[in-house]
Amino acid sequence: MATATDIQFDAILREAKSLIDKNTDSRKALQDVCQLLHEKIPHYDWVGFYLVNPENSKELVLGPFSGAPTEHTHIPFGKGVCGQVAERKETIIVQDVSKESNYLSCSLHVKSEIVVPLLRAGRFLGELDIDSHTLAPFTAADRRLLEGICMLLTDKFTDFS
Ligand code: SME
Repeated sequence: MATATDIQFDAILREAKSLIDKNTDSRKALQDVCQLLHEKIPHYDWVGFYLVNPENSKELVLGPFSGAPTEHTHIPFGKGVCGQVAERKETIIVQDVSKESNYLSCSLHVKSEIVVPLLRAGRFLGELDIDSHTLAPFTAADRRLLEGICMLLTDKFTDFS
């Protein structure tokens, strides 16, 4: 049976789709998605994209985001949760960041994190990173919504630089 969250997240996925459809500029689409998710979902306290650095294919560079500025503007592949997703090319959910040894802290308020890769035909282009001030807030519905949005983005755009 569909839960209230499923129904709410389906509506947000549809809103994200219409934002992505109407944007011809990929960076603007990423910025709009950040704002939508940050505004609509109370447990999303920081929403941002990291993209593969065009000048260094083993490094992530911070792209559009919504939330407090972060000191982590460049992250090597393998480092932190973001760097791990760049290597594994699959979603990582950390329900309690205090238990994750390979983690880069942005703020003491952050308790949990979900990072979803942007994959186009198996090629890793970047990732969507969400920090939460709530402990263990992420469910299968978050994963479905965020993987759905990343798929819409990589179906439409070939790159985000
Ligand atoms: N916590 C991330 C770093 C990026 S910030 O969350 C914005 C990590 O461990 O890779």
